[in-house]
Amino acid sequence: MWSLNLLFFFFFFFFFLSIELILAADTITPTRFIRDGQTLVSSSENFVLGFFSPGNPAKRYLGIWYKKIPETVVWVANRNNPITDRQGVLTIINYGNLVLLNNTKSIIWSSNTTRKVENPVAQLLDSGNLVLKDNFSTGSESYLWQSFDYPSDTLLPGMKLGWDLKTGLERYLTSWKSSDDPSYGDFTCRLDIHVLPQIFIYNGSTKLFRSGPWNGVSFGVVPGSPNFLYDRTSVYDKNEIYYRFESYNNPVIMLAKITHSGFVRRLIWKERGSIWDVVFSEPTDLCEHYGKCSANGVCSFNKAPICECLQGFIPGSQQNQTSPTTCVRSSPLDCRSGDRFIKLTGLKLPDLVETSLNDTMSLQECESKCLKDCSCKAYANSIVSGGGRGCLMWSGDLIDIRKQVNESSGLDLYIRVPASEQVSDLNENRKKIILAVLVISGILIFFSLLFCIWKKTMKKACLTTVQDNKEDVDVHLFDLSTIATATNNFSRENLIGAGGFGPVYKGTLSTGEEVAVKRLSNNSGQGAEEFRNEVNLIAKLQHRNLVGLLGSCIQGEERLLIYEYMPNKSLDYFIFDQKKAGLLTWRRRFDIIMGIARGLLYLHQDSKLQIIHRDLKASNILLDNDLNSKISDFGLARIFGGTDKEAKTKRVVGTYGYMSPEYAIDGTFSIKSDIFSFGVFLLEILSGKKNRGFSNPAHHHNLLGHVSGNLICSI
Ligand SMILES: *[C@@H]1O[C@H](CO)[C@@H](O)[C@H](O)[C@H]1NC(C)=O
Ligand SMILES: *[C@@H]1O[C@H](CO)[C@@H](O)[C@H](O)[C@H]1NC(C)=O
Ligand SMILES: *[C@@H]1O[C@H](CO)[C@@H](O)[C@H](O)[C@H]1NC(C)=O
Ligand SMILES: *[C@@H]1O[C@H](CO)[C@@H](O)[C@H](O)[C@H]1NC(C)=O
Ligand SMILES: *[C@@H]1O[C@H](CO)[C@@H](O)[C@H](O)[C@H]1NC(C)=O
Ligand SMILES: *[C@@H]1O[C@H](CO)[C@@H](O)[C@H](O)[C@H]1NC(C)=O
Ligand SMILES: *[C@@H]1O[C@H](CO)[C@@H](O)[C@H](O)[C@H]1NC(C)=O
Repeated sequence: MWSLNLLFFFFFFFFFLSIELILAADTITPTRFIRDGQTLVSSSENFVLGFFSPGNPAKRYLGIWYKKIPETVVWVANRNNPITDRQGVLTIINYGNLVLLNNTKSIIWSSNTTRKVENPVAQLLDSGNLVLKDNFSTGSESYLWQSFDYPSDTLLPGMKLGWDLKTGLERYLTSWKSSDDPSYGDFTCRLDIHVLPQIFIYNGSTKLFRSGPWNGVSFGVVPGSPNFLYDRTSVYDKNEIYYRFESYNNPVIMLAKITHSGFVRRLIWKERGSIWDVVFSEPTDLCEHYGKCSANGVCSFNKAPICECLQGFIPGSQQNQTSPTTCVRSSPLDCRSGDRFIKLTGLKLPDLVETSLNDTMSLQECESKCLKDCSCKAYANSIVSGGGRGCLMWSGDLIDIRKQVNESSGLDLYIRVPASEQVSDLNENRKKIILAVLVISGILIFFSLLFCIWKKTMKKACLTTVQDNKEDVDVHLFDLSTIATATNNFSRENLIGAGGFGPVYKGTLSTGEEVAVKRLSNNSGQGAEEFRNEVNLIAKLQHRNLVGLLGSCIQGEERLLIYEYMPNKSLDYFIFDQKKAGLLTWRRRFDIIMGIARGLLYLHQDSKLQIIHRDLKASNILLDNDLNSKISDFGLARIFGGTDKEAKTKRVVGTYGYMSPEYAIDGTFSIKSDIFSFGVFLLEILSGKKNRGFSNPAHHHNLLGHVSGNLICSI
């Protein structure tokens, strides 16, 4: 009896084990199928194939997703034809047709394979590719069918976007209809092979975005600096044209997809935080929107307005304000009496409509061919490598030209203008004017130097006078004794703060004027001259939301900065104090925030030299009599750290809790680091809680963690 029980036990044990084996298998054969609820898992457990419902639970789709990230579906079979119950079955019929059947054995989706084999097997590979093959054959050549040939909205590493020219198969991406509806949406991303390959994003049949034409190495731009995340391959030969990417570092999970709102994004999975990080998203800026500027116009993102007419063209139909300006020839071309070409640089070449190509001609041959052909409007090299060769000639309007943001990665375009255009050529004129100015100023400098040398021999002081005139206003130099008297010999009673760079004292000058004196800790490692230069630079920064620098004092090892005095102290004094916080109404807080934003904008963008604050925090925001906010300690990082716009610095200047992660960890700082601190500090103003020292039951160690935790929970 007991042994019979044991027998049953073993029977059930092996029975369940075998079910488990089937469930965890990665293959389907004519006798082994999966039904709704069961899945295939690829051998290294990267991908899962099974049934899912992204939105309406009554609609079942067959799809492939990451085992680790079940909500990210990378491929869907029956996109426009959901099964309405949970009875779907995926199996193989007729010697090699992979089919999805519903309850009544109707074919919902089929791989439509035409080749028949004896032992068909469908297998989910670790790349996310579902392949159908003969069990006895090996190699991708022998696949009867593969899901990589029929992408949904996602391009996985190794997948091709483009054409198999022998079979005429086009692989392209089609967006989902919405984030929870996998049926075919309006947006597609496809590789077009008219004249030369270009990648487009379409809305229906309307072009939304275009990469530049294939130039022998890449799409549209001179290949930029390599990246360390993925390798892009573009192949263009008589058999195939495609684009593909491959992750260098295999465990990195990455993909490119077209979103239901029409953006193509490259995403990388961040294990830490479990989120998708957007590496890039097209279209990025306004100039990437197809045909943003009218025909024969050029789009430059860092100009205002962003659209300009090409040289030789002027805005037409200006009286009509409602339609976009068109660019028309300023003077008609005259093929007979000779035209010439103007070279434009740093561009994305125009779209290849009415364009012809000869890929063996040199640039000279291209020019003379274009010159002879009266309909040829512009020409360019078609291949950039090896100094450039090949000839593209445009005969219609020039559409969708942009100035590349990184001009050195742009290409050259030669546009036809009438010979008469020479005179009105703006650039040439500008060059002449600049040259004239240079020559004249050169002469002036020469004579003033002569004059100086002459005068120096007469009176030694000349050079210093010249220098003083150049440095129009130097900051006032105080005597150490004056400051010592004003601050009562730096007495403890006068101490009003201790910033990151040294203690701050309140002082009263003999004139009765109140000042704040910052006594810098003497490890700035700078000589007197260097320090004076920096202080002069900082003193030139003047803005109503910056604390004014009145002067400095350099004597021996002593380095002092004298600022205007702010009677209302710093912001932290108010916001973190329960009683005083009541003084700051929402209106006041808003005005304070606006003031800081203006001051920061000035430091980052509007002042002559860009200043990264690097230690923005509530205690560095001072309030004047009317509670106007003023940023203090700006520019001090220049004295203590590096001066580069974006750089790595040995010395991290800043306050933990306010520092952006890349600055705190790597010491890499940029204006973005300041914006990060600004954000922390916004949260503090709004919540009245300190970022560090904030504790709550959910064990987030700071306010930032608490807020981002809550944000993630609420979306
Ligand atoms: C199965 O699919 C066919 C064809 O789409 C349809 O007519 C039929 O109603 C479906 N059966 C069930 C049970 O959904
Ligand atoms: C298979 O063929 C049918 C009928 O021609 C078609 O409707 C369906 O879209 C095809 N399936 C695939 C995956 O191409
Ligand atoms: C493929 O064929 C081999 C040899 O006949 C067999 O052992 C194996 O089980 C088959 N695989 C599948 C998935 O049918
Ligand atoms: C796409 O086209 C549709 C209809 O043609 C239009 O309503 C929609 O605004 C377009 N979307 C974009 C992003 O251009
Ligand atoms: C601009 O492009 C050139 C040439 O492709 C490249 O060497 C350079 O690193 C790029 N500069 C920036 C800032 O991306
Ligand atoms: C402006 O031009 C467009 C297209 O040419 C036309 O449809 C529109 O009526 C014009 N508007 C005015 C105010 O003339
Ligand atoms: C391309 O240009 C070369 C040199 O001018 C010429 O020999 C060749 O026939 C041209 N090829 C085509 C396809 O026009």
